Amino acid sequence: MSNIQEEIKLNASKVDAYLNSYFKNQNSNSKLYEAMKYGLFSGGKMIRSYLVHAACKVFDIKEKDYIPIAAAIECVHSYSLIHDDLPSMDNDDFRRGKESTHKAYGEFTAILAGSSLLTMAFEMISDHNFKIPDEKKTKIIHALSFCSGHLGIAGGQFYDLSLEKEKVSQDLIIDMQNKKTGALMGFCTEVACILANKENERETFKDIGVKLGLLFQIADDFLDKYGKKETLGKPSQQDEVKGKNTLLSYLGEDKTKELITKIKSEIENSLKQYSNNNALIDLMHYMTERKS
Ligand code: IPE
Ligand code: IPE
Ligand code: MG
Ligand code: MG
Ligand code: MG
Repeated sequence: MSNIQEEIKLNASKVDAYLNSYFKNQNSNSKLYEAMKYGLFSGGKMIRSYLVHAACKVFDIKEKDYIPIAAAIECVHSYSLIHDDLPSMDNDDFRRGKESTHKAYGEFTAILAGSSLLTMAFEMISDHNFKIPDEKKTKIIHALSFCSGHLGIAGGQFYDLSLEKEKVSQDLIIDMQNKKTGALMGFCTEVACILANKENERETFKDIGVKLGLLFQIADDFLDKYGKKETLGKPSQQDEVKGKNTLLSYLGEDKTKELITKIKSEIENSLKQYSNNNALIDLMHYMTERKS
């Protein structure tokens, strides 16, 4: 295992510990609650949690100030995947190496489990046991709401699905990817500036995260084309069948690779003024070179 994979694992274990203890205090044994746990604790890569960690490293933020936020982000992300797999969306029966939540628990339970994970993220951040100043919490909740809704994940997913098999422009594909995948990653990096009281740097960091999201989604689209279900833990060779609009399908491989190089150098350029940028730069390379 490479160094960064070990770092991701270490950070993931801290986030999982936080999530576990949060869930233990929920006092429920309903099937809905079980489905939420099934969708959340199911062996995701926890890349977004690590992105929060890497961005917070730049400003030397304490772990206890960002782990609860990383935990909340994993709830939002897992919600988005539970809904993404639904029959009315991508209709995928397999996720993280096992049955998708709707396959295991039925469709209405999966819809409700997804919605409950989304709201739980905001419950977690506003929890009085998470001790950061209220003013920062309000900013964090506002930014996370924004990137989850119609100008973020939900909006991107809407375009992804409604534009299947349609002919669209490169700009529209990028806008869709920036919303469905980039917005949450933009939040992961922006939140470091909120925690560090670096208001003037929020936009720069958000932009870095959105760009990382685009790189991450391009890698996902390459993996869909060339990867195997066994390694990915989810079905592959689906985007073409479904007529998904991806940069890979629009530009072809060579031009997409050129675009990757261009985005990477833009990110490096934005980060060069920060001395503690190593974790973010390493993650950027890992995101584009990953095999699963
Ligand atoms: C999958 O995200 C959805 C995309 C934005 C491509 P991940 O590849 O991070 O999913 P998990 O959390 O590791 O399962
Ligand atoms: C999903 O994109 C992005 C989300 C915000 C959930 P995909 O549909 O490509 O993700 P996978 O390939 O199913 O993980
Ligand atoms: Mg999808
Ligand atoms: Mg999908
Ligand atoms: Mg995909």
